[in-house]
Amino acid sequence: MSLIRDIKPGIRWVGAIDWDRRLFDSLIPLPHGTSYNSYLIQDGEKTALIDSVDPTKLDVLVGNLKALGVENLDYIVSQHAEQDHSGSIKMLAELYPDAVVVASGKCKELLVAFGLISEDRVMEVKDGQRISLGSKTLEFLLAPWIHWPDTMLTYMPEDKVLFTCDFLGSHLATSELYAIDEAAVYESAKRYYAEIMMPFRQIVKKHLARIMDLEIEIIAPSHGPLHNRPAFILNAYLDWSSDDVKNQVVIPFVSMHGATKAMVEYFVDGLIARKIAVKQFDLTCSDIGEIAEALVDAATVVIGSPTVLAGAHPHAIYAAVLANALRPKTRFVSVIGSYGWGGKMVEQIAGAIPNLKVELLSPVVVKGYPKEADFRALDRLADEIQARHRQVKLD
Ligand code: FEO
Repeated sequence: MSLIRDIKPGIRWVGAIDWDRRLFDSLIPLPHGTSYNSYLIQDGEKTALIDSVDPTKLDVLVGNLKALGVENLDYIVSQHAEQDHSGSIKMLAELYPDAVVVASGKCKELLVAFGLISEDRVMEVKDGQRISLGSKTLEFLLAPWIHWPDTMLTYMPEDKVLFTCDFLGSHLATSELYAIDEAAVYESAKRYYAEIMMPFRQIVKKHLARIMDLEIEIIAPSHGPLHNRPAFILNAYLDWSSDDVKNQVVIPFVSMHGATKAMVEYFVDGLIARKIAVKQFDLTCSDIGEIAEALVDAATVVIGSPTVLAGAHPHAIYAAVLANALRPKTRFVSVIGSYGWGGKMVEQIAGAIPNLKVELLSPVVVKGYPKEADFRALDRLADEIQARHRQVKLD
C-alpha cells in the first residue's frame, strides 16, 4: 500500500508518517509522532526528489516511488544532512544511479562525512542558484543555522511553493496533508520551534524576513503538515522569535522531602494572585518538550531545587543546562529551594546558564522546611518579579 498526495500538478508528497516514534535524537519526546516529508517534482523534462526520509521508512518512500512508476531521478535535493531527511540518500543513490544529489557546500561535506554519498555524486549549489526542470524551477536559498549550518530552502517560483526542511515544521503525525486543525498544529509547531529553532532566534528572524518577500501559496516543511495558509505559521514564528516576552513565570522544580515543593506551591499561588501566568513542572516526571515550549515566551524562570551532595539536585542542573542550550529570551531568573547543612546550590544553577542574558533576582533558600519568615521572603520575590514585569510593561 502506498500513500501519495497531490499538492499541485507535478508536485506530490511521497514521504512517510511515523505515527509511533516517541523520541528524537535520544532526547526530544515526540508525543504525537512525526512525519518525514519527501516531495517528488515531475516536470516535462526532469524529475527531482526534495529530501528523503528517515532510513527506518526507506521502504515506504521507495514503495511510493515505485507506485508512481518513477524509473529515474535526475536530482535528489538534500536540503539538510541530518539523517531523518538524508539517511536514505545512500540507498536511493544506488537505486537511481543517474541521480545527482543537490546540496549546499556544508551539506555536501556532512553527507560525505556521514558516509551517505561520494563527493562526485554531489552538485554543490550557491545561494540563489536555480535548476530548471522544464516548466518548473528549483531556486535554492541557503539558510544556515536553522538549525544546522548546512540548511537550505527550495523555492518554486512558478508554483509559489516553498520547501523549508525543518524550518516552520512540526513533529506531528496526522492524516491531514495541510494544517487544518490549527490549534493542534500551533502547539506542535511551537514545541518544535522551542526545541530546534529557539537557540538560533536571531538567525530565525533574518531568514523569516527574507522569505516574507517571496510570493508563497504553500509552505512545505519536512516534518508535519504543510501550510496552505502561510500567514498562520509565519505570524506564529514572528511572535515566537520577536524580542517580546510575556507576563509568565516558568518554574521547573524538584523536591526530595517536600520542603522545596511547599515553597513552590506557596510561591505559585502568590504569582497567580499577582496576575502573573505560571507554568510549573515537576522535573521528575515532566516532558522536556513542554518545558522548552513554556520557555518560548516567559519573562521569568524560577528553578526550584533542594540541596543534595552539597549542590543542586541533578534534575535542577539538567533544567538549567537545558535552558542554557535553548537560549530563550527570558529576562529574569531566580532560584528557590532548601538545604540541611549548607552547599552551593544557587551558585551551581547560576553557573549553568552563562548563555542567558538575564538579571538574577534574589534567591530564596531556606534551612529545612519553610517557616513564616521564609514565606515572607517568597512574597518579596513574587513582588520583585511583578515589579520587574511592570518595568518591562508586561501587565
Ligand atoms: Fe528534521 Fe534537523 O532534521
